[in-house]
Amino acid sequence: MWNLPGAPWLIAHKSMLPVNKPKLFTICGQDYVLWKNEKGEVSALDNVCPHLGAKLSDGWICNKTNTIACPYHGVEFDGEGRAIVSNEKISKPLAKKLEIIVQGNWIWTYANTEPRIPIPNAMEEIESEGFFAGVSGDFSIKAPLLYALEVNHDYNHAKATHRDLFKFKDIQIDSFFHEDYFSVVNVRQMREDNTFTEYLQNPLLLSYPKSIQAVAKNYFPSIVAFNTVTPFGNVCDVFVIYPESENKTHTFMLIYRPKSFGVFNLILDKFLINAGNDILKQDAHVIENLYPRFEPKMRLPNEQPWNWVRKLYFDWSNAV
Ligand code: FES
Ligand SMILES: [Fe+2]
Repeated sequence: MWNLPGAPWLIAHKSMLPVNKPKLFTICGQDYVLWKNEKGEVSALDNVCPHLGAKLSDGWICNKTNTIACPYHGVEFDGEGRAIVSNEKISKPLAKKLEIIVQGNWIWTYANTEPRIPIPNAMEEIESEGFFAGVSGDFSIKAPLLYALEVNHDYNHAKATHRDLFKFKDIQIDSFFHEDYFSVVNVRQMREDNTFTEYLQNPLLLSYPKSIQAVAKNYFPSIVAFNTVTPFGNVCDVFVIYPESENKTHTFMLIYRPKSFGVFNLILDKFLINAGNDILKQDAHVIENLYPRFEPKMRLPNEQPWNWVRKLYFDWSNAV
């Protein structure tokens, strides 16, 4: 099964939901509407209005009652899916609720399937070690989940796919550990020399070592937390994916910087978020433009994590 039923998916960081505004999102072929009230509580319903099928996400949130009003006839639904008609709440839920699990700022769901593995406890470690800088991406890729998993566990592609961003000339995996649905990759990335103009444009490059150490902690299938050791501390890019439909995958990145840099936070966060946007766009571009898959006629070094993630994907799909 392309959507790995029973897998936990991280679908949003709370900051991605504006207060009292419906947000449409699609997972495993189903449309849902999410909204967050002023207290930060999040509700999630099937996006199909049970009356005549209007898109609830085109409606509006009623602040006082914490309900969503349908854009067609204005019937309101609470977070349990109960309709309010002529000021009376119908006790039986009519709109289907999406079960979500809120872990601090992170919103997870099993997309209403029977849970098969627990939600990974990645958030605590990441949030305790870093300051949230913002979100990159948050768009759909026209490619199946498998291709997005592959690129997130591919330690050869940065040299080519992201060559203009990082100028890596060589990448080496120092260690690869895996157990069940979790893995850790220690990787060394060697950079090419920068040109004088590049240093002028971005003097920060001067402080960057020639070899950059990174540790990726992978929580199959939803997230890859990529920690890069910079001269200023660890920057953690959390790559998040979930399946929208058989041939569409959603992607976003949560970025954590090592500490507060006072007045420079805004500039630094913007820089990190822009870089994240570029990374995700470059990944999307390459996996959206692959020819139909065939048995690869050659192999590259560093493919152990790629093999690992593919095996988990196919074992899961075959077991369903
Ligand atoms: S279609 Fe939603 S209230 Fe009529
Ligand atoms: Fe990439």
